[in-house]
Amino acid sequence: MTFSAVDVITTKRDGGHLSDEAIDWVLAAYTRGDVADEQMASLAMAILLNGMEAQEISRWTQAMIDSGEVLALPDVGRPLVDKHSTGGVGDKITLPLAPLVAACGAAVPQLSGRGLGHTGGTLDKLESIPGWRASLNAEEIAAQLADVGVVICATTPTLAPADRKLYALRDVTGTVESIPLIASSIMSKKIAEGTGGLVLDVKVGSGAFMKSLDRSTELARTMVAIGGAHGLPTRALLTDMSVPLGRTVGNALEVAESVEVLRGGGPADVVELTVALAREMLALAGLDADPAAVLASGAAYEVWERMIAAQGGDPSAPLPVAAHVEPVVAERSGVLSTCDALAVGIAAWRLGAGRARKEDAVQAGAGVRLLVEVGEEVEAGQPLLELHTDTPAAVAGARAALSSGLVVSEEPAERPRLLIDALR
Ligand code: URA
Repeated sequence: MTFSAVDVITTKRDGGHLSDEAIDWVLAAYTRGDVADEQMASLAMAILLNGMEAQEISRWTQAMIDSGEVLALPDVGRPLVDKHSTGGVGDKITLPLAPLVAACGAAVPQLSGRGLGHTGGTLDKLESIPGWRASLNAEEIAAQLADVGVVICATTPTLAPADRKLYALRDVTGTVESIPLIASSIMSKKIAEGTGGLVLDVKVGSGAFMKSLDRSTELARTMVAIGGAHGLPTRALLTDMSVPLGRTVGNALEVAESVEVLRGGGPADVVELTVALAREMLALAGLDADPAAVLASGAAYEVWERMIAAQGGDPSAPLPVAAHVEPVVAERSGVLSTCDALAVGIAAWRLGAGRARKEDAVQAGAGVRLLVEVGEEVEAGQPLLELHTDTPAAVAGARAALSSGLVVSEEPAERPRLLIDALR
């Protein structure tokens, strides 16, 4: 059946329900180029303003999956399980988590993206490792999963192409922040990837897509429901993103911190979240290993080395460092009461760690190293964090971003609770 793009748009504009056939048609026609960008942008805005019902979201997700191929992963003799984070500042958790879960006996097919805006992308972080290659074809993904048990690589071009086109359009038309569109975008890629179970880390707070607990909970519920409707067992943790995760924000800085965690050290919050997500993934995979013990044993670090080497990287090579490093100091004595995730994310991005447009390059060594945690006492003049960049002219912009994001006060303060809720 053929529809008119204008009828589909006006149906949603007027608060109506899109039929299965209309959804199938509009996404297929958009992928082919028969529905124009301006028409899809208008429909995306109508969806953002008027929402979609559960049935529409489920069908939209299926139509995005059907726009490409589903990755046929071979039976590797281990349960397949993956995780997805909705993105945050300093969120390097995939780096220690994926090898940890593989070391516990599961297989982890982690098809990932690059960062845009203030949240970093897993591929950008790993590309700071000399020689490491993000693009693998379907055969290479399958072979590495069978051999190492874990692969972190770029999504293949045939996976949900409708989403790739639509996400780029949403990015420049103010239509990213729609729960149905975010949920269907994420879930279509994960379902098409062929994982057997999925754990979502849905971030809450200033550095997250969704700033409020209500909106984050709705996003998590929507994604868990899509997983259920498509036969993909899905769980979600809601976790804090009002302060950055760990002590580093920026590509090579975050790789170095992840390696510390894999070697049994690293910041407590990164370890806590890595282990919490691993427990959920292992429960979905039906495995009863203890991820905290496996992390401490060094077994996850061995898997990391094999995973990096399998993609051409040298796990023992020195990581790139920025040409210029300078501190931001406390202006008064007291307690660090606020270290705002969004402010730190924007600072790192301005220093060169992130990109403004998807074709921009990122600086491997750029970013922010936090020297003090929320709740710690500081003296006037004490360095609170370091700014790392190859372009010193970027420092003023980073300092401006941080100006109201770092607060030293007289009152005692505590880091907000990291694990907020779980949907199982
Ligand atoms: N990440 C995605 O993959 N899609 C969205 O819409 C938002 C974040």
